[in-house]
Amino acid sequence: MRKILVTSALPYANGPIHLGHILEMVQTDIWVRFQKLMGHECIYISADDAHGTPIMVYAEKQGISPEDLIAQVRREHQQDCKDFGIQFDYYGTTHSEKNRQWVETLYQHLKNQGHLVIKPIEQFYDPIKNIFLPDRFIKGECPICHASSQYGDSCEECGSAYASTRLVNPVSILSDHAPILKSTEHIFFKLSDFAPFLKEWMGKDLQLEVVHKLQEWFKEGLRDWDITRDAPYFGFGIPDRPSQYFYVWLDAPMGYLSSFQDLCDQTKQFRVEDFWGSESQAELYHFIGKDITYFHALFWPALLKAFGLRTPTNIFVHGFVTVNGEKMSKSKGTFIRARDYLDHLNPEYLRYYFASKLTSKVTEVDFNVKDFCQKVNADLVGKVVNIASRSSHFIHQYFEGRLCGALFEPQRFEAMLAKGEDIARGYERREYQKAIRIIMQAADEVNQWIDQEKPWKLVKDKEQLERVHGICSLSIELFRLITFYLKPVLPAFVSEVETFLNAHINRWEDRKAPLGEHLIHPFKPLLSRVPQESADALKEGFRI
Ligand code: 2FM
Ligand code: ZN
Repeated sequence: MRKILVTSALPYANGPIHLGHILEMVQTDIWVRFQKLMGHECIYISADDAHGTPIMVYAEKQGISPEDLIAQVRREHQQDCKDFGIQFDYYGTTHSEKNRQWVETLYQHLKNQGHLVIKPIEQFYDPIKNIFLPDRFIKGECPICHASSQYGDSCEECGSAYASTRLVNPVSILSDHAPILKSTEHIFFKLSDFAPFLKEWMGKDLQLEVVHKLQEWFKEGLRDWDITRDAPYFGFGIPDRPSQYFYVWLDAPMGYLSSFQDLCDQTKQFRVEDFWGSESQAELYHFIGKDITYFHALFWPALLKAFGLRTPTNIFVHGFVTVNGEKMSKSKGTFIRARDYLDHLNPEYLRYYFASKLTSKVTEVDFNVKDFCQKVNADLVGKVVNIASRSSHFIHQYFEGRLCGALFEPQRFEAMLAKGEDIARGYERREYQKAIRIIMQAADEVNQWIDQEKPWKLVKDKEQLERVHGICSLSIELFRLITFYLKPVLPAFVSEVETFLNAHINRWEDRKAPLGEHLIHPFKPLLSRVPQESADALKEGFRI
């Protein structure tokens, strides 16, 4: 049995989660559910990322305290995730005493080991609101292409990244006034101290795209990382520096560790050292979006190393969600929040759709409503559910709901069993698209075979009833195998199937023993077609 700890990135507590978060959580959840199905010990952790200027500003705008805001948002995030069938073993928050302790200890370690350096920096400051401005709180003209109204870190028109101080005619989005430059002393983490270690870490089995990015960053040179923010800020204060705080990105990944510790304390089932100690034999994986690769592939392993803890076994990076081939955009009305989707459509449809498109590559995953409806209807309803509905009907009409003992064509059952190997490989390697393709081909084959056998004709001849029993029972057995294969993707559907089959779908290995002579329940629609009006409502609401 493998011991595995898995995380997905911690969503910011400054607003609702959207389809991009759902893609990542679905990708992670499928992987975790697959590992559990295989009988491994696999723990899935996430948390809200509760610090930073945007959260502070947003709370102020709402007239509530940041603590109240993050508590409320965390409840909403947890509900959204639950409704999408995301099964965390623990969902924490970075705003916890435990996290503070970890961060302070880390800081002491870094300081004692000489990995910190203090340097003065100049930053934009809003003199009206009396606050230092993060890049996203400043707008101005792009210094490269001169497009107006671009953020302080990068230009959406030409894609250039730059320092906010290069913006032409910068304006604070908080006060609409020009910011001034103000100098303070900040603490920097000397990432380059870890260059040899990171080069070695890179030798792991990382995705090719990640290796290329890392090579690029190494070539540019590893720069010191500013881990300080000036007051006012919502975060953890730096113990020996009044009116300065740790940058949110220092305490965010620590949230992986402190949330795991919360789980340990709560359940007393695991020990932190077993998963995080330098000698840990457990596997540790972080699922993340491509935009935060730098933090997870460089800063995070370096911090863990400095701390004397184990480093991740791997990081699994995915691309962004696009809607009809374009970046989700609030102004174009294609920005879909998790709750908007849930208000209209069954979450399992989206889990299936994402699974059918996900590979181990860092490529974008497109949400296209027409393709989505077509896939769900054709695959899940037309292929999978169809096998059960057409066969169980005769089992109940002629055989009192009982399957026959012997397999009608054992080699057909064996062939379907054998497909499990490739399907499992697909899940393990995060090639869900491949796994789904094999499953759907298998479902196609079963339907074609039923079409050839024509049980609906055979039932008219009494002499052929035994044959009908054999065909329909085998169809149900094959349907059961397909259900095992879909379990990581469609947990709610599979639990309906368990009721219908009157049998558990628990362990991958269990699939090998057929149901045999067994009573099944009458068929009830297990999954319906995508209601056109719901799809239309989503499309209209979002102009997609
Ligand atoms: O990019 C983000 O949304 C961050 N809140 C992710 C943090 S992941 C981790 F490192 F904490
Ligand atoms: Zn530009």
